[in-house]
Amino acid sequence: MTTNKQVLLANRPDGWVKESDFRIAETPLASPGDGGVLVRNLFLSLDPYMRGRMSASKSYAASVDLGAVMVGGTVGEVVESRNPKFKAGDIVVGYLGWQQYGVSDGKDLRKVARRNFPLSLYLGAVGMPGVTAWIGLNKIGQPKAGETVVVSAASGAVGSVVGQLAKLQGCRVVGVAGGALKCAHTMQDLGFDGCVDYKAGHIAHDLEREAPDGIDIYFDNVGGDILEAVIPRLNPFARIPLCGLISDYNATTPRGIPDMRPFLIKRVKLQGFICSDTMELWPEALKQLGDLVENGTLKHRETVVEGIENAPKAFIGLFKGENFGKLIVKLA
Ligand SMILES: NC(=O)c1ccc[n+]([C@@H]2O[C@H](COP(=O)([O-])OP(=O)(O)OC[C@H]3O[C@@H](n4cnc5c(N)ncnc54)[C@H](OP(=O)(O)O)[C@@H]3O)[C@@H](O)[C@H]2O)c1
Repeated sequence: MTTNKQVLLANRPDGWVKESDFRIAETPLASPGDGGVLVRNLFLSLDPYMRGRMSASKSYAASVDLGAVMVGGTVGEVVESRNPKFKAGDIVVGYLGWQQYGVSDGKDLRKVARRNFPLSLYLGAVGMPGVTAWIGLNKIGQPKAGETVVVSAASGAVGSVVGQLAKLQGCRVVGVAGGALKCAHTMQDLGFDGCVDYKAGHIAHDLEREAPDGIDIYFDNVGGDILEAVIPRLNPFARIPLCGLISDYNATTPRGIPDMRPFLIKRVKLQGFICSDTMELWPEALKQLGDLVENGTLKHRETVVEGIENAPKAFIGLFKGENFGKLIVKLA
């Protein structure tokens, strides 16, 4: 009998996540019941939002129960189907979690085509992170040609797409990333106009150099020191799509609200958003992103970790910038 290796939530972390907050389990492979689909996961996505699901605090989505399989986006191949909508061999995107196989009733599975790019991209530029970039930039940021867009976590899954989409719309794009290598990547490979290495220690000074005409859109993936350095450089009527606050996810006490006066004086719009709020936008976003990747316009980079048992360590690395591009676990 084939077994299913899984990663379970063992403890709710207080502060930084530890490998001991997870437990590896091996269970007999479940069979799909009537209407069910058995999927062999090929790739698992590791994403910052999972830190929130490990906590019991109230949020926009339910926490993972202690002892349950960790939540996670997957791309896999249908092995066995007792659901008329799916057949063996179909490639499906879903949320089957940190495990080698998953059983679904089919409602949360979306069939995808084999296209001229790796299937793992359905978890990155042509998946949830890409759609997040598309929605936050286009619907909240509303960029206009000639404007200056700054994006943090710029070499990552969301940030890399934000910057490239903004460039396509004629904006000046400045990334903020950790380290010279990541900054060089945003400019040389992704076509950004400038980049600030926030680890160099003088964010405000470097932002002034890279965005001399001020900032019209700040796509915030990080919060904290970078947000505080951006605020004084915002132009009148600037927009801030507040996508993430990764610098705060492991903090035991949340960072306070910065000086709000510039928001009033400059009439700044700041809007938090969650990509799943506007599911009606996904088909259009996915179509555009898929076409841009397929025709080579939208560049992408991944850090691929092999084997489900290595997911916990890789996940912890997300919060230290150890990934370079979309973080993926290859399962098969
Ligand atoms: N609102 C939504 O619906 C939605 C959906 C998807 C993602 N998000 C959010 O978008 C953000 C980016 O997610 P992603 O999937 O694209 O991840 P990612 O950028 O691929 O990976 C995370 C990156 O964050 C940076 N980082 C980590 N800790 C940091 C810190 N203390 N200060 C500054 N940078 C830090 C690191 O890059 P450096 O090496 O450059 O520091 C790291 O590589 C996260 O905040 C995530 O929660 C929101």
